[in-house]
Amino acid sequence: MMITYAPMTIEAYDAVIGLWHGMPGIGLHVDEADSRHGIAAYLRRNPGMSVVAHDGARLVGAVLCGHDGRRGYLSHLAVYPAYRGRGIGREMMRRCLAALRSEGIAKCTILVYTDNTDGQAFWERHGWRQREDLRCMQTATGA
Ligand SMILES: CC(C)(COP(=O)(O)OP(=O)(O)OC[C@H]1O[C@@H](n2cnc3c(N)ncnc32)[C@H](O)[C@@H]1OP(=O)(O)O)[C@@H](O)C(=O)NCCC(=O)NCCS
Repeated sequence: MMITYAPMTIEAYDAVIGLWHGMPGIGLHVDEADSRHGIAAYLRRNPGMSVVAHDGARLVGAVLCGHDGRRGYLSHLAVYPAYRGRGIGREMMRRCLAALRSEGIAKCTILVYTDNTDGQAFWERHGWRQREDLRCMQTATGA
């Protein structure tokens, strides 16, 4: 099997949503941040940083990557179950961190559901550490 990697473009939207939809560990908001419009805006703001993985023509993995000029963020890293354990998640993560590094971004943050122990194990395996001194808080802007 030959896996290829490429920057995510909006043309991949339907396939990427198909991957994320219903996948445990992925919090999808297709009526809001993850709408076609929302993802297109994200990709425009962070050109070339999000990654897709293909097996031939089939999309098998994806991740969103971007930064706010100060800190980097990865979201929705996912690989189809049949393709897991072959280094695809790690390679997409590696590419994202390289892209952030090349833009001078020194740190990257992810949000992981507290019940996603497999996801947490993946990040810990790769040197990511939970910030015990921080708690994530959020509010709606009204948009
Ligand atoms: C997390 C996820 C993207 C990992 O993708 P993957 O392609 O299977 O991961 P890789 O094959 O690249 O794994 C790389 C390494 O991490 C390890 N790893 C992968 N999943 C792991 C797990 N659940 N627990 C412990 N280690 C894990 C692998 O053993 C491998 O180790 P190695 O470097 O010694 O070979 C995939 O399991 C997934 O899609 N999960 C559901 C969505 C999700 O929870 N995403 C995270 C959101 S925060």
